[in-house]
Amino acid sequence: MDEIHLWSVVPEALSPRTVDRLAAWLSPPEQERWERRGRSRDYLAGRTLARHVLAGHLDIGPEAVELVEDALGRPELAREQERSQLSFNISGTQGMALCAVARGAQVGVDVEALTRRLDPSPPIARSFAPCEREDIARQPGDLRGRRILQYWTLKEAYVKALGTGLTLALDRFWFELDGDEPRLVLPPGPRPHGDSWRFFQRSLGERHLAAVAVKTETAGVQRLVVRAWRP
Ligand SMILES: CC(C)(COP(=O)(O)OP(=O)(O)OC[C@H]1O[C@@H](n2cnc3c(N)ncnc32)[C@H](O)[C@@H]1OP(=O)(O)O)[C@@H](O)C(=O)NCCC(=O)NCCS
Repeated sequence: MDEIHLWSVVPEALSPRTVDRLAAWLSPPEQERWERRGRSRDYLAGRTLARHVLAGHLDIGPEAVELVEDALGRPELAREQERSQLSFNISGTQGMALCAVARGAQVGVDVEALTRRLDPSPPIARSFAPCEREDIARQPGDLRGRRILQYWTLKEAYVKALGTGLTLALDRFWFELDGDEPRLVLPPGPRPHGDSWRFFQRSLGERHLAAVAVKTETAGVQRLVVRAWRP
């Protein structure tokens, strides 16, 4: 598909009846994790949103979607044939859960609440490359927090698309934000993860900022379509 779909749901908006209905979609391991996390609405919202979206693509029921997790915790479709065709990723923060889905292209997503304040001093500063740190420092006070979250969401979306998560050093790559869309810059040397990436960044309402990373080698990704799920 030449579209990446970014679906959102508001966990706090789920009524108790809806929570009960959606909980029945969870697999036994998911049920266990949901219990361990104190029946977290955020977990339920993210997982069932992914099931809803994937079920639509696979033309099966949401409870029939089979998921596994790799060694670093990235959820994937269990069946190899489905996995090679559909990639998805989940992110959540206060007030929002997101699921990005792409056909034939590796995808990662991150969302943060704009009210979140990431302190630009160590250790957070170690997550940024020198040019990103300089750019953050150049921003006027009221825009500095937003600029930090712009870089942060892009970095997380990238490492989540790779599946490495925060095991990859975040200051070893950086983003340029002055073009039409964010551009990834990698230092000279081997590029084990390829360099055909495309990044989207979107404000979702007034309170959230999201970034989506897509590996474009195998797909001609054209645009990001944002959709809301109201179960
Ligand atoms: C992936 C990671 C960046 C998540 O960051 P976060 O800001 O806390 O959370 P987000 O809301 O953006 O994303 C969480 C979701 O990402 C997905 N996820 C988990 N591990 C992932 C990975 N390695 N790659 C991509 N996605 C991952 C899951 O769906 C998770 O939600 P769920 O548990 O409700 O299903 C972080 O957990 C990480 O670096 N993990 C990998 C390495 C690691 O330390 N693993 C520990 C277990 S071995």
